[in-house]
Amino acid sequence: MASQLNTYEMANRSRPSTPRYKLPAPSRRHWLILSLSLVLLLLVSIDACGAVFRRANSLGRRCSPLVADTDTAGAGLKVAIVSFSEESRRGSRRRSFQGLMEMVRGNKMAYADKRGYDFVDAGNMIDKRRPASWSKIIAVKALLPYYDWVFWNDADTLVTNSTISLENILLAATGTTDFHSSPDLVLTEDFTGVNAGLFFVRRSKWSVDFLNTWWNQTAFVRFGSSKSGDNDALKHLIKQLPPDELRNHVRIPPMQCIFNSYPWIPTWKTALRLFSSPSTIWNGAYSYGDFMVHLAGLDEKTRWAAEILQELKED
Ligand SMILES: *[C@@H]1O[C@H](CO)[C@@H](O)[C@H](O)[C@H]1NC(C)=O
Ligand SMILES: *[C@@H]1O[C@H](CO)[C@@H](O)[C@H](O)[C@H]1NC(C)=O
Repeated sequence: MASQLNTYEMANRSRPSTPRYKLPAPSRRHWLILSLSLVLLLLVSIDACGAVFRRANSLGRRCSPLVADTDTAGAGLKVAIVSFSEESRRGSRRRSFQGLMEMVRGNKMAYADKRGYDFVDAGNMIDKRRPASWSKIIAVKALLPYYDWVFWNDADTLVTNSTISLENILLAATGTTDFHSSPDLVLTEDFTGVNAGLFFVRRSKWSVDFLNTWWNQTAFVRFGSSKSGDNDALKHLIKQLPPDELRNHVRIPPMQCIFNSYPWIPTWKTALRLFSSPSTIWNGAYSYGDFMVHLAGLDEKTRWAAEILQELKED
């Protein structure tokens, strides 16, 4: 042991005699190789995250409290699933919604048929004076008198697990099957705040007032950018509700994946988000078995929709 130590010390002591000017070249190369390998390792692990998220539910993630279908059997809710697609060419081509409605309509109609809901394509209700996305407010408001609940669906969404009923989702989210004591607005939060892509509105005076106020947020209307402003207006309204009103009328379930899962794809942007808010990303990442997928923020939406529809067919 002692002799080994001595040899080591001797080796170390002999070091300073090595000419210093020889060091830089190889050491710089080593650093380069080391950093490149680290970057590569990071890229590979970020890439692997996508596969892990896809299996989040089998790894134990729970998107909603377990609700037996028998618990909702008496609910007998009259529900409309409402959607439309902006078919105009405004905005970026890659983010385009063109052709999406044609692709997702069958999926939504099949789900509505199976469960006894109505599916409504509200394409004829779009108010051309604002970016189309704002007209979801008009569409929901127009249908509300005829239904207990209206479930708004952006066109870049698909039902991915049709064994789950909306009654089940609503009971899990609100904790009640009593229509009259239920909250009026059920929506989810992503890493930016509440999301206006998928939400439930109950038929009530409060809901109509809320929808009117939302439509009235004209200062948020944006033209020609990727943001139309309706979601920002909703965030603003929710943020400034008095706590009492928020508690009584709005419900935001803790798990985004209860009905609004986003596919997670590895990019620098999504990787940074993952590092800054891992639990939010985990709660919202699309996994096999989730109720719905929402292609939020993704380019080439029709390609994504086709891919997911194909996956569902293979199941
Ligand atoms: C919407 O704005 C108009 C004009 O400013 C106002 O008269 C109306 O009361 C507002 N409605 C709601 C519900 O805020
Ligand atoms: C659909 O959801 C149910 C209830 O959460 C779950 O038991 C089932 O495994 C899911 N289906 C698929 C194909 O993952």
